[in-house]
Amino acid sequence: MARSYDAILEKTALQPTRQGLRDLLENDDPELLQALTRHAYHVKTRELGRNVYFRGIIEFSNICTKDCYYCGIRKSNHLVNRYELSEEEILREARWCYENHYGSLVLQSGERRDPAFVDKIEWLLKEIKSLSHGSLGVTLSVGEQDLKTYERWFQAGAHRYLLRIETSNPRLYSSLHPKSHSWEERRRCLDYLRQSGYQVGTGFLIGVPGQTFDDMAGDILFLKEIDIDMVGMGPFIPHEETPLGSSAPFDPLRQLTLGLKMIALVRMVMKDVNIAATTALQALSPTGRELGLRAGANIIMPNVTDLAYRRGYQLYQNKPGLDENAVEQRINLEQSIEALGEKVCYGEWGDSLHFKKRQKG
Ligand code: 5AD
Repeated sequence: MARSYDAILEKTALQPTRQGLRDLLENDDPELLQALTRHAYHVKTRELGRNVYFRGIIEFSNICTKDCYYCGIRKSNHLVNRYELSEEEILREARWCYENHYGSLVLQSGERRDPAFVDKIEWLLKEIKSLSHGSLGVTLSVGEQDLKTYERWFQAGAHRYLLRIETSNPRLYSSLHPKSHSWEERRRCLDYLRQSGYQVGTGFLIGVPGQTFDDMAGDILFLKEIDIDMVGMGPFIPHEETPLGSSAPFDPLRQLTLGLKMIALVRMVMKDVNIAATTALQALSPTGRELGLRAGANIIMPNVTDLAYRRGYQLYQNKPGLDENAVEQRINLEQSIEALGEKVCYGEWGDSLHFKKRQKG
């Protein structure tokens, strides 16, 4: 039966169109989900092998100057206890990544642009490079900055950057953010990042209120248009202390399915990029990240932040891993990944092949 979708999927992978992608996203036939997953997994193994890379993520501060309507750590949420890890704590977690042979780590926090913040990141980058004798790769995920700042951090040793555009539709973007937040500015930052030499990652909120299938099809084409290197996207999950917390009935299975379909379609269209199986998938199903790998993802970002701080970084409700420490998580993930027939590649950066080919070409 599922065979009947094969021709359409071949065609979509070769020549994706907005209409074609929209039809596939809209169609909720379980056979299609299976066919999509199979097809995308085939593309992943053909392009990248059965390899999974870990990036230990350090959520080093939830202090944020932004006020996104969907996010639990938005500035206006006064119910959150704000925290910032000390330099020593961050370096301890970075050392843990190094000693456990994670090829790279991600430094993520709420967005700040003040000089003290910019300096701190620069200092940390140099220290992390030094403690790991240059071997740990560092990805930054600390929001919109000016070109000079991006350049400074690149010089200091960061070589990848994640900045989700959240949606490719500027009108939808403005309905999800206050007036002071600008889609155009965010879009410009993606150009600055490319210009500064980073491997650039972006992504979206999937199934956010007000979003249409046409918007999601546009999101996939946006990645192609800007020739992205890495993708991190996840289903929207409401957080009750935010304006979008109770705006629409929440259907976890629908969100999970949409998240998996987006991964599969992005893998089919973008082929050799890095795609993360994000924590939001795991919030919707205990095996969400493994399903993400089956649907074409090849990156997992295990949380290595000290347990004492996890509660403070609730971007959405029921964010998992509140009490699973870094060691337990590594062991559990490794087991479930091996059970899928995939290999965790320790001690390697696992750079985006897409990026490497662009450099050569
Ligand atoms: N549901 C899912 N993802 C969210 N993020 C923020 N709030 C939510 C939510 N309620 C995501 C955003 C942001 C990333 C750090 O977390 O896409 O870019």
